[in-house]
Amino acid sequence: MAQFTLPKNSKITEGKTWPKPPGSNRLSEFRIYRWNPDDGANPRIDTYYVDRDDCGPMVLDGLIWIKNKVDPTLTFRRSCREGICGSCAMNIDGTNTLACTKGMDEVNAGQVKIYPLPHMPVVKDLIPDLTRFYAQHASIEPWLKTTTARPEKEWRQSKEDREKLDGLYECILCACCSTSCPS
Ligand code: FES
Repeated sequence: MAQFTLPKNSKITEGKTWPKPPGSNRLSEFRIYRWNPDDGANPRIDTYYVDRDDCGPMVLDGLIWIKNKVDPTLTFRRSCREGICGSCAMNIDGTNTLACTKGMDEVNAGQVKIYPLPHMPVVKDLIPDLTRFYAQHASIEPWLKTTTARPEKEWRQSKEDREKLDGLYECILCACCSTSCPS
């Protein structure tokens, strides 16, 4: 049987364990994929401890807390913080999801394991390269088209025509739909 293995420079190593915040009683452990294309090193998993009494409840809150208080080099995307834009799509606890809508309490065994979205090249840490995603997106032309002549002002939409879109428009074309979008 053929056996496959990762190239040597792709193998994930154990990274740094950052100190626990002093005096905190409620901690969440974060195990986060780190990779920097500039240092020539293999990817690694760094361990951080988030003070839950000083931080919001979502995984994205934890990442922002780490970036602000522990390690400013941690790199990830985020924007709306309310499950709309898809910027914070990543693999958390084995599932592709949005860090801003995933609660720290929802992960197994209280340990938050975070990797970049799979099946895409990594730019740095938790940031995938979305070039192919956008190319695929453009190729399917996911917008409404009409065969009617351009009106003087706007195209009018009847209530009945609007209802035909129900169930089809909920996807807002954010990046998280690689596998996890509920729409
Ligand atoms: Fe926009 Fe999470 S930050 S969906």
